[in-house]
Amino acid sequence: MRILLLTHSFNSLTQRLFGVLRAQGHTVSVELDIADSVAQEAVDLFQPDVVLAPFLKRRIPEGIWRKVVCLVVHPGIPGDRGPSALDWALMRGDEYWGVTVLQAVEEMDAGEVWAWQHLVMRPGATKSSLYRREVTNAAVQAVLHALERFVPGSLQPNQPSHTTATGSWNSLMPQTTRRIDWAVDSTATVLQKIAAADGSPGVLDALFDQPCRLFDAHAASPALVAQFASAAPGTLLARRGPAVLRRTLDGAVWIGHVRLEATPSQQAASDNMLKLSVAQVFSGHVAPLLEAPVALMHDADEWDELCYREFGPEGARVGWLDFEFHNGAMSERQCLRLRDALRWVRTRPTQVQVLAGGQDFFSNGIHLHAIEAAQRVAGDSAADASWRNINAMNDATLELLTLTDRITVAALHGNAGAGGCFLALAADVVWAHEGVVLNPHYKNMGNLYGSEYWTYSLPRRLGEAASLALMQQRLPLSAPDAVTSGLLDDCFGADAEVFSAQVLARCLTLAGAPDLAQRIKAKQAQREHDEMHKPLATYRDEELTRMKRNFYGFDPSYHVARHHFVFRKPHAWTPRHLALHHDLTSASTPPNPA
Ligand code: COA
Repeated sequence: MRILLLTHSFNSLTQRLFGVLRAQGHTVSVELDIADSVAQEAVDLFQPDVVLAPFLKRRIPEGIWRKVVCLVVHPGIPGDRGPSALDWALMRGDEYWGVTVLQAVEEMDAGEVWAWQHLVMRPGATKSSLYRREVTNAAVQAVLHALERFVPGSLQPNQPSHTTATGSWNSLMPQTTRRIDWAVDSTATVLQKIAAADGSPGVLDALFDQPCRLFDAHAASPALVAQFASAAPGTLLARRGPAVLRRTLDGAVWIGHVRLEATPSQQAASDNMLKLSVAQVFSGHVAPLLEAPVALMHDADEWDELCYREFGPEGARVGWLDFEFHNGAMSERQCLRLRDALRWVRTRPTQVQVLAGGQDFFSNGIHLHAIEAAQRVAGDSAADASWRNINAMNDATLELLTLTDRITVAALHGNAGAGGCFLALAADVVWAHEGVVLNPHYKNMGNLYGSEYWTYSLPRRLGEAASLALMQQRLPLSAPDAVTSGLLDDCFGADAEVFSAQVLARCLTLAGAPDLAQRIKAKQAQREHDEMHKPLATYRDEELTRMKRNFYGFDPSYHVARHHFVFRKPHAWTPRHLALHHDLTSASTPPNPA
C-alpha cells in the first residue's frame, strides 16, 4: 500500500510506525501537518491508499478525508475523545486503557473505529513513558489490524469492528485539576499529578516563590523521609543531583525538572522558557539546601539518576549500571557523573559490565536545553557550553571504549538518538528490544558532524561506505533493521521488562562462559592493534575539529536547529528525506493511473 503519514511531528510513535510499515513492504511517505494546502498537495502528489495520522493536533482537511481513507490514532479506548486522553486515564488511576484507530470525519475523534488495542497501565509510569512504551506498542498492533481491513479504493472497512470499551468526551485538562495542594496531598497523589502532566504541560506550582511547572518527580525513600519527619508539608528539604526534595503530607518527593512560568509582563517571551533541572534553574536557591548524596550502589527505594548493582557468583559476576537521565539528555554534569561511575566500576570484581541507560531512552546525546540556557549566562555561550558538553560526553565514551578487562554490553531499554547511539556503540556488545528505535546520525541537528568516537566505532561495525550512508540518510532505524544492517548485535524481547530479564540471563551466561578469558584477551589485542593503527585521541581530535566549526564557525545551522528543537518551533517544511512524494524521480512515484 501507499501510506502517507500525516503528523504534527516525526515523533517516536510516528518513527516506529514508519519502520514497521516499511518493513511490511508498504511505500511510506511523511508530511508534517504544516497547513491544509501542504497536506492536500502531499495527497495529490503521493496518491496514497491510506492517510495515517499517528500524532495530529489539528483536524484533517475535509477535502482529504472525503476522498481518501484517513485513519487517526487516538491514545484512548473506543468512544474516548478529547485532547487529554492519557492525562485523564492517569488521573483516574485506570488500570487498563487502549489505543483506537478511527476514521477521520467531520467531528474530532468521532469516526468509525477500524481497530483498537487494549493496554495495561504500568503502575507509576509517567504519561510520556506510557506513550513511548505501552501506547506505542498498542498503536502498532491497532494500526496493523486496521490496515488488514482495508479494501483498496473503498472508504469503508471490510467488516464491522467490535468495540466493547466505551469512553466519553473529555475536555482539555485544566491546571485547576492538576494543582497540588501540598498541605493535604500524599506522596502518591503528588506523583500521580506530576506523572499525568509529564512531557507537557507540567503541573503549575511554585518553587522558591517563583511560578513554574513541575516535571520528573520520584518518591523519596522512607529512610530519608525519617530524617525530616517534623518538617511541614511543602517545605524544601534537601538537594541531590538535578533535584530538590519536597515534603508531602506523608513523605517526600524529589522534583528533578521545571519550566519557569512567564509572568504576565513576560507573556511575549513565554515560549522562551526552557525545561531544565531544578538545580540549574534555581542554582542560587538550591545550593544552601542540605546535600543528600547517595552511593552509586544503593537500595532500590532510593532515587538517583545513576544506580549500580551486581549479580551472579564470584568469578562470573555481572555489573549493571542504570543511568536514568531525564529525556535521555546528558548535560556536562551528567556526562561527568557517568564517566566517574565508569571509572569506579573498574574497581569492581565483575566479568561483564552492562550499561542499561534509562528505561525510556538509552541516551539522546548532549543536553540541548542546558546548552541553550547557557546563552543567557553572563560570560558563557551556547558554543562554549556545547564544547564542554561534547568533551564530557567523549570522556564518558572513552571510559567505555577502554574498559578492556571485561566484556561490556550496552542494553538499550529505550530509544537512542545521535550521540546516545554512539555511546552505546562504544560497548563490545549492543542489544536492544524489538520496540527500540535508533537515530544513529547527527545531521538533523543543523548538520552537526558528531563525535563520541563515531568515526572509530561505526566503521568497525558497518565498514566505511555503509557508515557514511547511514549518517547521510538521517532516517530512524528499528531495532530489527539495525540488527540486519550490523549496527546492533541482537534484538530480543517485546518490551523493556522482558528484555531486561533476558539481558541479565544472557550476561550471567557470558560471565561464566569457559571461553570468557580468551574473549577478553582477544578484545584487548584488538584494542591494542587499533590503537597502534590510529590512536583514539586522533579520532577524537579529528571529530572535534569538525565540531568546533559547527559550534564556533560562520555557519549558524546547528545553533538555529537547536533553538528550534528546544522551543519546539513549528516546522516550516517537511524534510526531503521523509517526504518521498516530493522526490518525483524516485521509485515512490505513483504508477501512472492510465
Ligand atoms: N537534549 C535535550 N533534550 C532532549 C534531547 C537532547 N539531546 N533529546 C530529546 N530531548 C527532549 C525533548 O526536548 C523532549 O522534551 P519534552 O519533555 O519537553 O517533550 C523529550 O526529550 C522527548 O523528545 P522528543 O523529540 O519528543 O522524542 P522523540 O522520541 O519523538 O524523538 C529524537 C527522539 C532522539 C529523534 C529527538 O528527541 C532528537 O532529535 N533529539 C536530539 C538528538 C540530538 O541531536 N542530540 C544532540 C547531538 S549528540
